Amino acid sequence: MITFPRGRQVVLGVGAGIAAYKACDLLRRLQDDGFEVTVIPTNSSLNFVGRATWEALSGKEVKTEVWEGTQSVSHVALADAADLIVIAPATADLISRLASGRADDLLTTTVLAASSPVLIVPSMHPGMYLNPATQANLETLIARGFYILQPDTGRLTGTDSGIGRFPETLRIIGKVREICDSNSGLKGKKIVVTTGGTMEPIDPVRFIGNKSSGRQGLAIAYEALREGAEVTVISGITEEYVLGGIKRIDVKTAQEMQNALSAELESADALVMAAAVADARPEIASSEKVNKEDFRALSLVKNPDILAESTKNKRENQVFVGFAAETGDGIREKGLKKLHSKGVDFLYVTDVSNGKVFGEKETTGILLSKRGSEWSFKAADKHELGRRIVSELIQELGVING
Ligand code: CTP
Repeated sequence: MITFPRGRQVVLGVGAGIAAYKACDLLRRLQDDGFEVTVIPTNSSLNFVGRATWEALSGKEVKTEVWEGTQSVSHVALADAADLIVIAPATADLISRLASGRADDLLTTTVLAASSPVLIVPSMHPGMYLNPATQANLETLIARGFYILQPDTGRLTGTDSGIGRFPETLRIIGKVREICDSNSGLKGKKIVVTTGGTMEPIDPVRFIGNKSSGRQGLAIAYEALREGAEVTVISGITEEYVLGGIKRIDVKTAQEMQNALSAELESADALVMAAAVADARPEIASSEKVNKEDFRALSLVKNPDILAESTKNKRENQVFVGFAAETGDGIREKGLKKLHSKGVDFLYVTDVSNGKVFGEKETTGILLSKRGSEWSFKAADKHELGRRIVSELIQELGVING
């Protein structure tokens, strides 16, 4: 099973303030920034925004009590998975319960069990906010390492105004980014990543395949998500994985991959062709299992070169990244040749001598750019290469779009 680094899981706790409706927008913007959000409302907050809204927006089951689905021990599971807990809006009552360490619903129990940072976004009437009891509770939470975002000052629900307004979503997002050290360089951009190997059938049980695990493409997809990109993964044969927030298209053969890609590419800003596509397939895929007596020679036909075909229709404002797996001497020179012959903006050439890199967590190779820059990687984590590629995509797409 392929796993991914921490950093994308946010628990959004919602207290019973009128600003709960504004937290719907916050949830959306967090998702746009590449976070995967689980919502835990307090029971009374459901008077403002109902469970169905949170479930529809988050795409996840929403619980308020530890007594729902006890077999999954939700508070512990949610606390363990959370990279950040954001409580918005946090009412005076909720702040008071958190400060005294209460655990009387799913949200407070999860906060108590969690070791992740917690960001509190108080929102209430100025009288309640400025009340010494609330202020003392906030001081207690600050002393325990909670982050508190000061409310805005302005018009409130009724006719009065003052401090206590729910902050603008962007201010909250800014604080979240600061705490999580995350960015949004690819926001509004669509990145298509192909990954894994293709499987070319010989008969119903046999195939031509390769050792690709899909790890590298998935690491790139993950890093692009972390920068707020809309990510489509065209996934060949890979190790098992679960990656929330992507559009996943599963394919088996090179031809299926080409069809899926051509449907996605038109609307894409960048293509990362990390898949290990089989260069050839059996001329005939037998519908019956071939008996060993009949197994003499395989007649092969060439598969389309998906990347080279795709670059023929590449637009000026698209960025393409190719991969090349090489063995022997002159890896860099072989890579440079392919960078130009495939017509891509970047090409990562990796040394797969002695079966290295495929299926491993680490990679050795050189990322080459058509502008002449290059970056070397030696037994580097595949996410490190992923981050470099993503940062070059941000740069290139920024240059293209002025
Ligand atoms: N590729 C592709 N379609 C193919 C084969 C490869 O799109 N039928 C893509 C791969 O995803 C990769 C790049 O082309 O991004 C380089 O693949 P590689 O197999 O190393 O290059 P080839 O052009 O097939 O060259 P070789 O003859 O060395 O195998």
